[in-house]
Amino acid sequence: MLETSPRGSARAAVLCGVGGQLPRLKVGNDELAERLDTDDAWIRTRTGIRSRHFAAPDEATSDLAVAAGRRALANSGSAAVGTVIVATTTPDRTCPSTAPLVAARLGLTGVAAFDVGAVCSGFVYALAAGTGLITSGVTDRVLVVGADVYSRIVDPGDRQNAVVFGDGAGAVVLRAGHATEPGALGPFDLGSDGAHEDMITVQAGGSRLPFDPARTSHAERHFSMRGKEVYRHAVSRMAGSAQAVLEQAGISVGEIDLFVPHQANLRILRTVATDLGLSFERCATHVQEAGNTGAASIPLALARSHVDSALTVGDRILLTGFGGGLTWGSVLLTWPSLPPAVEPSRPEEGVAS
Ligand code: UT7
Repeated sequence: MLETSPRGSARAAVLCGVGGQLPRLKVGNDELAERLDTDDAWIRTRTGIRSRHFAAPDEATSDLAVAAGRRALANSGSAAVGTVIVATTTPDRTCPSTAPLVAARLGLTGVAAFDVGAVCSGFVYALAAGTGLITSGVTDRVLVVGADVYSRIVDPGDRQNAVVFGDGAGAVVLRAGHATEPGALGPFDLGSDGAHEDMITVQAGGSRLPFDPARTSHAERHFSMRGKEVYRHAVSRMAGSAQAVLEQAGISVGEIDLFVPHQANLRILRTVATDLGLSFERCATHVQEAGNTGAASIPLALARSHVDSALTVGDRILLTGFGGGLTWGSVLLTWPSLPPAVEPSRPEEGVAS
């Protein structure tokens, strides 16, 4: 049974900080067109993307996660949490997970720390995990990070994926609170369909097909996506999952002030918004400047909206993810009162250029 407040509202996870970090290197479409058989018009028309950021050669997922995490903690007003969760498809190493390192580098030695692997739905899954830990009383404050460095797994010569994916990290802090206060998360909808596990994949490097320099092919080593099929699933699963949480909450799409979907492709976002009957002005769009940043895309879009002062306390927000697995998920929240956040593309303080 959930703990209740003196006023009778259930114990809930409440968002109390947000932050993001994009790598310093920003790459425009024309720069990609210099080395790939593509052009700015194709990329903009098919995806809406104008630029993306790529990690430096010595910059790994944990570096971006630490920077985003530090910003979210500062935004929350306290550097202390009991749990760190990192959603990523591009961990620093296959073993161990990335979250303990992120926690240690944030000065959080001794806290619970683990990764969530749900590809581009990872952030919503990680929010659900963090919420469960809070509502069950295991922990009172959680740092939830979505971070990916897709440029390490995408073949730079693969024109379909190299133009779409970018690197970045976004983070939020959750604290224990009550379901009626601004910032409270829920309900959630989560789902998967493993019958389509090969639609978005890196074939080699796991226990099914270990990396073998003599036998693993170039294609098997890199990220692959059956774009057109994924597109269709993305549209139907995102709209379906969004609808499912609206029904659970008993509210209509007209009551949503901001929809923050996984930033896969501007065309997908428009179609999902149309299918939901939601005006596109109420859809957060960050894909134009950051590309598809995997598990980072939702918290980065949220940080972007906060930086742009697009959110008012009490606004009802709908987050919806979709990704490899296939996986999908949605959650509702109301926007809390937060101090201004740092612009995600601003370099991390103290990092030399
Ligand atoms: O994050 C997880 C979820 N991910 C998604 O939801 C992504 C879903 N998929 C997509 O966003 C789109 O499918 C892509 C952006 C990946 C591709 O766009 P599309 O409109 O589905 O293009 P397509 O695959 O149907 O390709 C159309 C044409 C093809 O040429 P032909 O066969 O018609 O001659 C491709 O070879 O465009 C060609 N093409 C390109 N041309 C110029 C593919 N990539 C490029 C490129 N530049 N970068």
